[in-house]
Formats: sequence, C-alpha cells, structure tokens
Amino acid sequence: MNENPIVELRGVGKSFKGCSVLKDVKFSIFRGESISICGASGVGKTTLLNIISLLEQPDSGNIFWNGEMVLNRRAKDIRSLRSAMFGFVFQNHNLIHELNVIENVLLPLKVRGKISKNDTNFANSLLKAAGIEGKKDETIDVLSGGERQRIALARSLVNKPSVILADEPTGNLDEDNANRALHLMMDICKLNNSSLLLITHNQQLAKLTDKTFFLSSGGLSPQ
Ligand SMILES: Nc1ncnc2c1ncn2[C@@H]1O[C@H](COP(=O)(O)OP(=O)(O)OP(=O)(O)O)[C@@H](O)[C@H]1O
Ligand SMILES: [Mg+2]
Repeated sequence: MNENPIVELRGVGKSFKGCSVLKDVKFSIFRGESISICGASGVGKTTLLNIISLLEQPDSGNIFWNGEMVLNRRAKDIRSLRSAMFGFVFQNHNLIHELNVIENVLLPLKVRGKISKNDTNFANSLLKAAGIEGKKDETIDVLSGGERQRIALARSLVNKPSVILADEPTGNLDEDNANRALHLMMDICKLNNSSLLLITHNQQLAKLTDKTFFLSSGGLSPQ
C-alpha cells in the first residue's frame, strides 16, 4: 500500500518503574485494514493500545495520526481528535451503570453534540446486529458479561471511527458469539472503510484479520 498510514508509531518506548514494556516499536495502521495483536498476559498489549490513542504517554518516540505528529498537541486538541478518530472496546467494558443500554451506545456521539434521529436509528441497528436489540432499555447491572461486551462493541462503532481499538473484545463470549462479534466488527469496518486493531488470545480469531503481530520482549513481530 502506498498511501499514508492513519496511525504511525516511530521508535516508541515505554517503561513502568524501570521495567521496559515497549522498546523502539515501529507500527502502522492503514485505512481499512484489520490487524490482530497476540501476546502473553502482561507483555504490554493494553499499554500499546493506550499509547496509540494517547490515553497514555510514551517515554520516547513519535506518534502520528493522519500524518500529523500529535504528541506535542494541546490536551484539548488531542481529546477532540481522539474522539473523532477512534472507537474503543476496553478490556473491562467501561460501561456507565447509571445509563441504560441505548444511552451507553450513544455516549460517544453525545459527548460531541446533539443526538439525531439518524444516530438513534444507527445505534439501534448496531444493537440488532449484535443480537441485543431487545435489551436496549435495560440497565447495565442486569446484563451478562457477554451482553455487556456486545454493548461495548456497538458503542465503539457508533461514531463511525477511522480506527477501532478493541482490547480482548471477545474474551467473555462463547465461540459462536465471539465469531459473530468479530464478523460484526469487520463488516462494519468494511462498510465505513475503518481500520480494526484487535487484541486477542484467540488464535482462530487472529487468523481472520488481514495482518497478525505477536508482541514479546517489547517488540512486535509479524506472524
Ligand atoms: N500504570 C501502570 N503502572 C505500573 N505498571 C503498569 C501500568 N500499566 C501497566 N503496567 C505494567 O506493564 C505491563 C504490561 O501491562 P499491560 O496491561 O499492557 O499488559 P497486557 O499485555 O495488556 O496483559 P493482559 O493480556 O493481561 O491484559 C504489566 O507488567 C503491568 O503490570
Ligand atoms: Mg491487557
């Protein structure tokens, strides 16, 4: 591919308490591609995802979003660029318990402005595709772990982001639902020409993405 990457990491390093987690990482995400990252627990996968979206600062290196160096931008600018560009599925869902299902799904749009009828229709179609349209008015507390994960999935897609960062999005799902969830993400990414970065321990799911990397000893190697 000759086009510029949507996200590029150059020489990124990160340590915690003197312990090096990422070392001189070079990594690019191009528009529309799906990438999976595998690696042992504690190796730095979530840290890498957090650094890509600048939820966490690297100790060294540079980060580019749409070709623009973002590390030196003001926090306010980074927040607004981030919310337009990324959709998140966190390892622990991060759903808001005070809001019901559909309100949780619409949250990334709400923080950016008014919700339109089209937004609500799109959110409902995502819940339908995720097989949980019947639960849209429920509170989060009464839902199962897998249902929460599917809501988090719908929420990550609602702002039609350029890049979806998904941290073990299928970890709590049985095989059928894990497959279904990943296909849902990949289908919607294709529709929006969005990219998907998936962290997974599931080798079968990892094989479904365009590229697979393995993270170990602070570095990414293609599989
Ligand atoms: N804020 C922090 N302060 C100190 N240490 C941290 C911090 N965040 C992560 N670490 C450490 O960095 C290492 C990598 O953590 P990370 O969460 O990125 O791993 P992971 O690959 O996502 O693991 P898992 O598969 O279990 O989710 C771990 O040893 C963790 O304890
Ligand atoms: Mg993790």
